[in-house]
Order: sequence, then C-alpha cells, then structure tokens
Amino acid sequence: MPAIVLIGAQWGDEGKGKVTDLLGDRVKYVVRYQGGNNAGHTVVVGDEHYALHVLPSGVISPEVIPVIGNGVVIDPKVLLEEIDGLESRGVSCEKLLISANAHLIMPYHRALDKVSERFLGKAKIGTTGRGIGPTYGDKVARTGIRIQDLFDPGILEQKLELALRDKNQLLTKVYNRRAIEAKRIAEEYSTYAERLKPYVADTGLILDQALKNDVNVLLEGAQGSLLDVDHGTYPFVTSSNPTAGGAAVGSGVGPTKITKVIGIIKAYTTRVGSGPFPTELLDDQGEWLRKAGGEFGVTTGRPRRCGWFDAVIARYATRVNGVTDYCVTKLDVLSGLDKIPVCVAYEVDGKKHDEIPMTQTDFHHAKPVYEYLDGWSEDISGARTFGDLPKKAQTYVKTIEEMSGAQVSAIGVGPRRDQTLQLRPFL
Ligand code: GDP
Ligand code: IMO
Ligand code: MG
Repeated sequence: MPAIVLIGAQWGDEGKGKVTDLLGDRVKYVVRYQGGNNAGHTVVVGDEHYALHVLPSGVISPEVIPVIGNGVVIDPKVLLEEIDGLESRGVSCEKLLISANAHLIMPYHRALDKVSERFLGKAKIGTTGRGIGPTYGDKVARTGIRIQDLFDPGILEQKLELALRDKNQLLTKVYNRRAIEAKRIAEEYSTYAERLKPYVADTGLILDQALKNDVNVLLEGAQGSLLDVDHGTYPFVTSSNPTAGGAAVGSGVGPTKITKVIGIIKAYTTRVGSGPFPTELLDDQGEWLRKAGGEFGVTTGRPRRCGWFDAVIARYATRVNGVTDYCVTKLDVLSGLDKIPVCVAYEVDGKKHDEIPMTQTDFHHAKPVYEYLDGWSEDISGARTFGDLPKKAQTYVKTIEEMSGAQVSAIGVGPRRDQTLQLRPFL
C-alpha cells in the first residue's frame, strides 16, 4: 500500500493541518518529516480548536499512530508540554513514536537564533525564534545532539561539552551573552529523557514493515515549498526540506514507496517573515484579506503578509514536488470580491517571465502580471459538493487548476472537517 506525501505549496499556513486531520480515518500512520516547533497547524473538530507544533496533525484521530521522523528537530520541553496539553483535553498521545535519530533543539540554539536575527538588523530572516536554523546547522556540521544521546548520560555530557566549546565563544565574545553550562543542560535534559523514552523507536523500520503489510502511511510536511532551504526563496527560508523529496529523507521511507503527493494551496497567498513576495498587497486589499482569512500566525501571532494567488509559484510547486493532487483551501475567504486578480507571469526589468526567475536578484524585482477572474458574492461555507458552488467560483478553481498543472481533488470552504468538497478521493 502507498505512502503518500502532503506538502504546503506556498510559504506555509496553507491549511495542511486540516487536510492531514481529514485523512485521519484513511491512514494508519501520520509522520512529520521535517521542521520543528516553528510549525503551527490548526485542526478544528466541532467546537474544539487544536494548535499543533511538533506533533503530527494525525494525533487528533484516535486510530492514527503519530510519528515524529528522523528529519524533525525536537525541543523536548515544548513536545512534552504539547503532549500534556492534548492529554488534558482527552486526546491520547500514548501511541506516539519518536525517531531515535531526530535532533534536539538545545537552549543555545534558541539563544543563537534570537541573537543572530538581532545582529542581522534589517536583513533579518524573521525566524520564529525557536532555534530551528542553529539546530539544523549543527546537524549538518556533525555537532548535533540526537534523541538517542539522551539515554547515555556520559555521551550526552561529552557532546554538550564539545558543542559548547565554540557556542560559548560565540555567545560571550561575539554576541555579548552569558555562557551556558553543559552540566546544567545535561541535568535538565535528563529529566526529559525519562519521559520521552517510552516513545522512542526505530521509526524507519516500523514504517517499512507497515508498508509491507499494506498499511497507509501519510508523510506530513510542515512549512511550504517556497520556504525549502534548496528550492525556496533562499536565504529567506527555513533550514529544512519541506518539499516532497524531503519526505523520504526525513522519514526513512524509500522514495519508490511514495505514490502520491498532495499539495495544499490557498486560494490566495500569505507569507510570514521577510523575503520576496511578488503578489503582496500593502494596501487596504491586503488588510481585507488578512481580516477575512484570519491571517495571524499560529506559532508567533504575527500578522501574515497577504496577496493574490500566484500561478507561477503554483506551477513551480507542482514541478519541484511532483504534485499529483491539489487541495485548494480557503476559497470561502474570497467571497464578496467583484474581480479576483491572479498572477499569471512576472515582469522583471521589462522582461516577461512565465517561470520563477533563476536568480534571487531577479525574483526580488519580479512584478506580477495579473489576469482578472470574475468573483462571486455568495457565502459558500455551506457548500458540500462542487455543484453547490456558484458558477464563478467553479470557474476560479478550474482556472487556477489549469494554471497550476495538477488536478484539484478537494476544496476547502471553511476550517471544519466537514467544510471540504472532495472532488475525488485522495486514496
Ligand atoms: P498549516 O500550518 O498549513 O496547517 O495552516 P495553519 O493552521 O497555520 O493556517 C490555516 C488556517 O486556516 C487555520 O486557522 C485553519 O483553521 C484555517 N483553514 C483551513 N482550511 C480552511 C478553509 O478552507 N477555509 C477557511 N476559512 N479556513 C481554513
Ligand atoms: P507551518 O508548518 C509559515 C517562516 C518564518 C521565517 C522562516 C524561517 O505552520 O506552515 P524558522 O523559524 O523556520 O527558521 O523561520 O520561515 N516559517 C513559517 N511560516 N508557516 C510555518 O509553518 C513556518 N515555519 C517557519 O516565519 O520567515
Ligand atoms: Mg501554520
């Protein structure tokens, strides 16, 4: 049976959490494969709102086994608080599995994330301040500390001493902060070790066995394709690979097992943090979209930058992820507009570009070329089939489908589970 991947096709916050939750009754495992608690995924079930950060969104479905894959970076204190928060609301996390190879976010990663942003001044990335970049940096530099190290106190302290040798030089001599003591972190983290131990497993092996037994596995991405460290708007990106290729690396599931890539794409565009955003609206229309869509960050509460749908980005996301199916979310938010601009190409220094420009310099200069589609005035939040949508809303979806180059298989008309029009089953 297949492993399917779910990714964000824009700059994150497309509604991945909702769609992952929706698939909860059709998959047995839901695996987070990258990112950490920079993510904020919202799941709404009836009157209950859940904001998930490290745990896969499948955790809300009682039958699902949630897995934190090797590609995720874990802040253990945040993870344990998230588990406690859910359990106090009656959501069991008992079946959670955590890869022994996942890397740990340490207090010095959080400190370095914050001070390095401050030092960048106007050039800052606008990170979530959760220590994500420095943790992945250490992973690649081979000075990271992994979940499995928690269970060998001697190794943990030794690795911490080594890591802190240069981190403390940086903190005290460059950033004018206080040094951090290895012993103190070792003590704090050993308390987490005890609580985390029951969840830790060889997750890659378990997933392979599940796939051999015809069990469905959903690999859930965080962030979005344009925040990918390789394929995004570098350096204004996160430090991992949210694109579908990252799903194999970050879960240990071989790429030939993946049969479907579901792209989650908003009917317009948002972005949090710095970096280029060709269709951004800095006027009243942007304010209108932010209000209508409730576009405020789940993790940091920051107002999201808002703009129109960008078909150039959609086509790019289709290509770099190999998207087989799209779920267009938040179509309901666009109700009430007379005309809806859709960006079909860019103009860069007088030249038309149908694809994302090759260089970041050109992308910074990209001006949107718009086509104007007819809007609709009806409230569509009660629609349950494609036929329930006003003709002009149907045409909007069909047009962006054609421009994006992959079929639209579902449409979101509200935050709740039942506010999804399924045009064809995902699996
Ligand atoms: P994620 O990070 O991709 O999981 O997305 P977020 O949870 O950060 O942001 C998406 C927001 O849109 C959440 O508040 C969802 O409850 C909400 N949402 C998801 N799908 C829809 C939809 O189709 N319509 C509306 N109005 N809201 C939606
Ligand atoms: P979900 O999973 C939107 C952005 C940050 C910043 C950049 C780098 O909810 O879609 P980081 O802390 O990762 O080093 O910050 O990435 N960012 C997100 N934007 N949604 C997210 O997650 C994000 N996670 C990180 O705002 O611009
Ligand atoms: Mg989010």
